[in-house]
Amino acid sequence: MSQGEHNFEELHFKPAPALDGEVPGPRSREMLAEQDELESNARSYPRSVPVAIEEGRGATMKDVDGNTFVDFFGGAGVLNVGHSHPAVLQAAADQEKKLVHALDFPTRPKLRLMGQLKELLPGRLRESARFHFGGPTGSDAIEAALKLTRGHTGRDAVIAFQGSYHGMTTGALSVTSDVGFGGPTASPVHFMPYPYCYRCPLGLKPDSCEMACATLLDTSLEDPHSGIPKPAAVLIEPIQGEGGTIVPPDGYLSEVRRITRKHDVPLICDEIQTGFARTGTMFACEHDGVQPDVMTLSKALGGIGYPISCIAYDAEFDDWKPGAHIGTFRGHQVAMAAGFAAIEFMREVDLAGHAAALGELTLGLLRDAQDTLPSVGDVRGRGLMIGIELVKDRDTKEPWPEMAARIRTECFRKGVIIEVGGHFGNVARFLPPLVITRELLLTGIEIFVESVREAEQALARPSALIAG
Ligand SMILES: Cc1ncc(COP(=O)(O)O)c(C=O)c1O
Repeated sequence: MSQGEHNFEELHFKPAPALDGEVPGPRSREMLAEQDELESNARSYPRSVPVAIEEGRGATMKDVDGNTFVDFFGGAGVLNVGHSHPAVLQAAADQEKKLVHALDFPTRPKLRLMGQLKELLPGRLRESARFHFGGPTGSDAIEAALKLTRGHTGRDAVIAFQGSYHGMTTGALSVTSDVGFGGPTASPVHFMPYPYCYRCPLGLKPDSCEMACATLLDTSLEDPHSGIPKPAAVLIEPIQGEGGTIVPPDGYLSEVRRITRKHDVPLICDEIQTGFARTGTMFACEHDGVQPDVMTLSKALGGIGYPISCIAYDAEFDDWKPGAHIGTFRGHQVAMAAGFAAIEFMREVDLAGHAAALGELTLGLLRDAQDTLPSVGDVRGRGLMIGIELVKDRDTKEPWPEMAARIRTECFRKGVIIEVGGHFGNVARFLPPLVITRELLLTGIEIFVESVREAEQALARPSALIAG
């Protein structure tokens, strides 16, 4: 084991994966059919990973038929300390006996959590941060951040980025770039190119572009004829998640920080997916030494999946009047106690270091495998936030979403659960619980590589026949 790695052996089901025949098994199929009768047509994950889950432990899950899977999905980046972490479960159970709901009254779990978060925040926020707990999901934190900066600046427009995902409530949807979600069209949101260097939106090359995408942000804010009024905020994911695990080049985020300061525009970093050790540091903006004005936090903040979100922001922005942003479910005491315990554990074991070490290992192995896997166009990531972009041809980079979907199915059949995302639905994504052991990770990667190989053979067959 190298520095930063730990062995979290005892946290997972063993052995894993362990399948008893074909998946989905009979009970899963029954429950999926029942779900089909009852639940909205908008449900998504069980369409691509058809399974009914019974129990989770660490980086493993059992389905209702007793099959054990390796979880490379981590509840979409929620389960950084793993499913049902024992210390977090204990903290939640203790709190549940005392108090669950408390609106925004001061309570010990809340004060403790805010004190702890403050110690972790980057730069001046460590001294000056204020917190606001709104509704329980990440989208609620985005709404709050937009409202806070709009109120503070008296401006309406917002700059977000192509490839962004910020959630499904009206405001959050307006700053989400995927037009397929049918977001509001009349909102004053302007989308700037993100440094998606594998497919540069400006058609440039990383070695000679001189970060033209950042220059465009600068000139758009400078030029009264850019068509973009001075915005209330620039809202950015330090690494884009749903957009396909897009890691900006070093220096990009700090350039955005410099530009936003120069133009007196607040910077909101959405750390909902990247936060809490996921990318090898507590928050992803730290990689570039950036201190945002506002941070949105959720997902892993609830420890093992309790819903909670908040914004952390510089006190200078705290000009909300009393009662300016309220809500019934903004004081979930169990989530706060769970979050505190989870963060204590992250710090105790240096979970960020573990994620960084295993992330490097993963990127190395996948890049080696890429030599013999023609459909793998790009391998990227930071910490345990990994993306593998699938293409029909490495020269044309034509996206291959069917390949990504097929790989996900092959992985599932072999007992590994992965996610697919990206602009074109062609990026296989790993977001495993960060407590995954090296052994489980290696097993999962091996199954993934085997699945790519099989999917390549299967999908190449019809065109090979036609060509022949
Ligand atoms: C970066 C980011 N922001 C916001 C959200 C929205 O969070 P939620 O789904 O909890 O509303 C997500 C969800 O995936 C996300 O990844």
